[in-house]
Amino acid sequence: MKPHRTRPLILRVMTCSLFLAADTFVEAQQKTANYDESKVGNHPLPPVLGEGNSIANSSAAWEQNRRPELFKLFEEHVYGQTPQPNQWGPVEFKILAEKKDALGGKATRQLILATLPQHPSWKGMEIMLHIPNEGKGPFPCFIMPSFGGNHAVSTEPDVPLSTRWMRPNKEKNIVANRATEATRGTESSRWPLAMIMDGGFAVATYYYGDVEPDHPDGWREGLRAALSKDGADTNWQPGQWGAIGAWAWGLSRIADYVEKQPRLRGDQLIVLGHSRLGKTALWAGAQDKRFGVVISNNSGEGGAALMRRNFGETTAVITKAFPHWFTSTYSNYANNETSCPVDSHELIALMAPRPVYIASAVEDTWADPKGEFLAGLHAQPAYDLYGKKGLGTETHPGLNQPVGEHIGYHIRSGKHDVTDYDWQQFMAFARRHFKTN
Ligand code: GCU
Repeated sequence: MKPHRTRPLILRVMTCSLFLAADTFVEAQQKTANYDESKVGNHPLPPVLGEGNSIANSSAAWEQNRRPELFKLFEEHVYGQTPQPNQWGPVEFKILAEKKDALGGKATRQLILATLPQHPSWKGMEIMLHIPNEGKGPFPCFIMPSFGGNHAVSTEPDVPLSTRWMRPNKEKNIVANRATEATRGTESSRWPLAMIMDGGFAVATYYYGDVEPDHPDGWREGLRAALSKDGADTNWQPGQWGAIGAWAWGLSRIADYVEKQPRLRGDQLIVLGHSRLGKTALWAGAQDKRFGVVISNNSGEGGAALMRRNFGETTAVITKAFPHWFTSTYSNYANNETSCPVDSHELIALMAPRPVYIASAVEDTWADPKGEFLAGLHAQPAYDLYGKKGLGTETHPGLNQPVGEHIGYHIRSGKHDVTDYDWQQFMAFARRHFKTN
């Protein structure tokens, strides 16, 4: 597989303009989408516990039959199937750097390169891990992918700039699809690292583009092509994994590393993601039960928001603008959502009985906050099988009023983003469930 920069200029220009076209298309759709609650339609949701004689009426029946059945439906119709460990072989972790006084002494920061020795055409991913220096530990750990790379998450000048392909973004100082020095710290408001350390949590991250660049052609230079035996074309076959599956795979590989660290609690891992990476966190949580708490932030369509509701982004828009995120079958449900055998309340139910938290923002209408709330509400039957309380209300709560026990939810004021307020709720939720202080 050739690295991106050696590809002919014409192909690079084509990829870039495809990408810009997708963004322009989404912006236009955002203006014309339906935001009128009276026009969302009233389509019954597929029943979480199944139908007829095969209704799961105990946690055992859920675990043995219904959950695996639902899981398979999500593989077949939405995200595709993730290859098994024997297809990727051992993962090698190499510590590239350790700094014991990061964040003014608050944290020990490690940079770790994860590679697949059996698949050297994949260049690997750089994990950045911050562990609190104060407090007894071992600490629970958040695992969350970033949009901009480790140097954009941290403001510290000794975090190396990512050299990988990045989506065009003038505001974030991305030039010719590469990070520049001026990109440093541009994502840091979404990562209040000092506050997370003071809260008694570790946090690990990686740049999602390390696993696969985020454009329709990105798989050619990412993990999916590297693992594909028969050549890359198989990636577009129905049921084959999409980019969300690949990015979620990356989150589980971070868990592999983190769970072996003596200063960390391998049994207290929290997977968290924002927006397209919120969709990724949910799929990671569904696949990997080591994630003891699963958190979706503003994940919207293809994530927590119910696809059967015609509000904000639709299946038709997402599968046209971002076909590479999903398995190809998912596009069959564009303008045809009711024939999809699953909806997002069942994705949330796949976490049961583990605690799951869904966060919305009131100005993020594109992500359909109410549809995100309703997915949490209608996941409840699976939690009932374990006697676990969920949201505790059928009414979409007011602004900045978190609700719920095993299924948590808030809608905060403001726009599509990750804020300190969100982090405070996530830490409180995780603390409650892990019973830490
Ligand atoms: C677009 C896309 C959303 C996605 C978001 C993001 O708006 O339509 O589905 O969640 O990008 O990831 O920022």
